[in-house]
Amino acid sequence: MKVLVIGGGGREHAVCKKLAESPKVDALLCAPGNAGIAQVATCVPEVKATDVAGIVALAQREHVDFVCVTPDDPLALGCVDALEAAGIPAFGPSAYAAQMESSKIFSKNLMEKYGIPTAQSEVFTDCAAALSYLDTQSAPIVVKADGLALGKGVVVAQTIDEAKQAVREMMEGGKFGKSGARVLIEECMVGREATVLCFCDGRTIVPMVASQDHKRVFDGDKGPNTGGMGAFAPSPLYTPEVARRTTEEILLPTLRAMNAEGFTFKGVLYVGLMLTADGPKVVEYNARFGDPETQAVLPLLTSDLMEIMMAVREQRLDESMVRFADKAAACIILASGGYPGKYEGGKAITGIDAAEKRGATVYHAGTKLSDGQLVTAGGRVLGVTATGDTLRGAVDAAYAAAREIHFEGAHMRSDIGSRDC
Ligand code: AMP
Ligand code: GLY
Repeated sequence: MKVLVIGGGGREHAVCKKLAESPKVDALLCAPGNAGIAQVATCVPEVKATDVAGIVALAQREHVDFVCVTPDDPLALGCVDALEAAGIPAFGPSAYAAQMESSKIFSKNLMEKYGIPTAQSEVFTDCAAALSYLDTQSAPIVVKADGLALGKGVVVAQTIDEAKQAVREMMEGGKFGKSGARVLIEECMVGREATVLCFCDGRTIVPMVASQDHKRVFDGDKGPNTGGMGAFAPSPLYTPEVARRTTEEILLPTLRAMNAEGFTFKGVLYVGLMLTADGPKVVEYNARFGDPETQAVLPLLTSDLMEIMMAVREQRLDESMVRFADKAAACIILASGGYPGKYEGGKAITGIDAAEKRGATVYHAGTKLSDGQLVTAGGRVLGVTATGDTLRGAVDAAYAAAREIHFEGAHMRSDIGSRDC
C-alpha cells in the first residue's frame, strides 16, 4: 500500500516509523514532514497540514491508498471527510466527531448529559457575565477558550484577578481569535494526570498503555506550559483499579454517548485524566494521538499499526489486534533556548548518531536541512526515546542518549519520569 501521513512533528515521525515497519506498507509519503521523517518517508514540504484541498489533490496525484490525518487542525477542518468524499480511505475522525477536541463546550455538554465524571463548569458567551460570575467564585479556578488554541487556551488561575484577566484576553482581546469567543469557567480539580490514548472505531474502544506528559517547561512542574517536555509509558498511576474505573465510568460511557448523539468516532480518542480523590475524571478529550505521549507509547506497540488503522476505519477493531510489549519507554524533549517564549532557529545539531548508537530513537519535531546541515527549526526540536525493562531503565537510557545531542541554547527537563520511577 501507498500511505500518506499528514503532519510534521515528533508525533508524526513516530507514526511514520511505526507504519514503515508494517509489511503492508510499501511506500510512505508525509506532508509536510520534516528532516527526520525524510529518513523513512518521502516528504512533501509544499503541502501544509491545514491545506485540505492540497492534501486531497496530493493523494489523488500520487494514487495514495490510505491517508493518516494526525494533527488537530486538519481534523477540525474536515480533512478526513474531504478525503473519504473523494474516495480515498482515511484514518481519523470526521470534523463533526473531532469537535470532541475542537470545542471544549461540545465535549463538556456531552459529558454533563451522559454523567461522565469531569470538572463542574459554566459556559459564557458574554464577557461581562463571565466577569460577574467570577466575583461569586473562589480561586484556584480554570478558564478555557472553547476552540483550538495550540494547547495554550487553558489558564489555571491562582487568583480571581488572574482569571478575570484571562477572560478579558480571550473574550475582548481576541487572544485566540474565534476560539476564545466562548469560554468555560470550571472547577479546579486536584490530582495527578495521566493520558489514555484509545483506538476507537465507533463500536469498540481499545485503550493503549497509559502515559504521562510533562507540560511545564522547568523541572518540578515549574514555569509556563509548553507543548510537552517529555513523556513516559506505562503510567504507574494507572493501576488495574484505576483502569477498571476509567473503562467503566469514562471510556465505555463516552463511546455510548457519542453514538447516542448520532455520530461515529473513528480514530484515536485521547482521554486526559485527572486522578482525583473521588476517582478518575476527564480533563479533556483530544481527537488524535498526543504529542509527546505518542513518542513513548508507539515504540511499545508490537502489533501492526497499519492493520489497526485499517480496522478502525472499517469498524472491525478487535482488542486482540492491539498488543504492547511488557516494557517501559521514556521520551525526553530537547527544546530551543527561550521556548516556549521567543527562540531562534537555524542552530546546527550534532550528536544524533551517538544518541542512536546508545539504542535510543531520535524523533524530529522542529528540524530542517540547511545546505546539508541539520539545524533547529522549531520550539521543540527533538524527542529522544529509549525503552527498558523498567521505567527507571528507560528514563536513564533516554537521558544518556539525549546528553549526546548538542545545539546552541538546547534545554531539556532533567526530571522526566523521576517522580514515578
Ligand atoms: P487542557 O488543554 O484542557 O489539557 O488543559 C491543559 C492543562 O490544564 C491540563 O493538563 C491540566 O493540567 C490543566 N487543567 C485543565 N483543566 C483543569 C481543571 N478543571 N482542573 C485542574 N487543572 C486543569
Ligand atoms: N500532550 C498533549 C497533547 O497532545 O495535546
